[in-house]
Amino acid sequence: KRNIIIAIDGYSSCGKSTVAKALANKLNYIYIDSGAMYRALTLYLIEHHISANDIEKIKSHLSDIEIKFDLKDDKTIVLLNGKDVTSKIREMNVSELVSEVSSIKEVRKAMVVQQQKMAENQNIVMDGRDIGTVVFPNAQVKIFMMADPKVRADRRFKELQLAGKNVTLEEVFENLAHRDYQDTTRKESPLTRSEEAIVLDNTNLNQEQQLDFVINEVKKVL
Ligand code: C5P
Repeated sequence: KRNIIIAIDGYSSCGKSTVAKALANKLNYIYIDSGAMYRALTLYLIEHHISANDIEKIKSHLSDIEIKFDLKDDKTIVLLNGKDVTSKIREMNVSELVSEVSSIKEVRKAMVVQQQKMAENQNIVMDGRDIGTVVFPNAQVKIFMMADPKVRADRRFKELQLAGKNVTLEEVFENLAHRDYQDTTRKESPLTRSEEAIVLDNTNLNQEQQLDFVINEVKKVL
């Protein structure tokens, strides 16, 4: 029997990972945060002082970058070459660079291969920008998430504040706008809504309502 893949794409800070995690938890599927992989790769470049413009250098390092997910105290952590970078990849210096790095064709190729491997023989929920369009065009369920940009910035700002990160609402708003622009206009696998994806605008929905919405969509096909 074919394994089930649920693809959740959408704009930055729409709450994709929150919905995806809750859904995976409910269905007992594996949750994979593809954005965390691009973030970890970006962190690697920052730590090795490699410029996002230096495509040749980036290409030569791709095979040295191993990104994995693991569980620690019941929580998913992100490992970059064995080191826990879960918190570091949420810092603004990573957020500011990640969309540039993600627009590089070779970077995307490498990440997509790894993402497809992770889905072999298991049921998964994966969120990102190109999951339903490029990584898993045959996903049984495709959700496209959006929300008012101001609401998104506000939510993300509060989250970062709670995590003790030193940012302003303005910076967060600018970063979201910048990433949305980069992600939708890039040449390689831009963020687009595929015809068959179901739109979830969560501007005025709480987490429970969002989960109900996606569960309902899943029930239609499973
Ligand atoms: O999901 P998150 O906002 O953490 O992703 C960070 C960035 O990684 C996005 O703004 C986008 O540039 C890139 N990304 C991507 N393709 C994915 C997931 C994330 O290009 N599937």
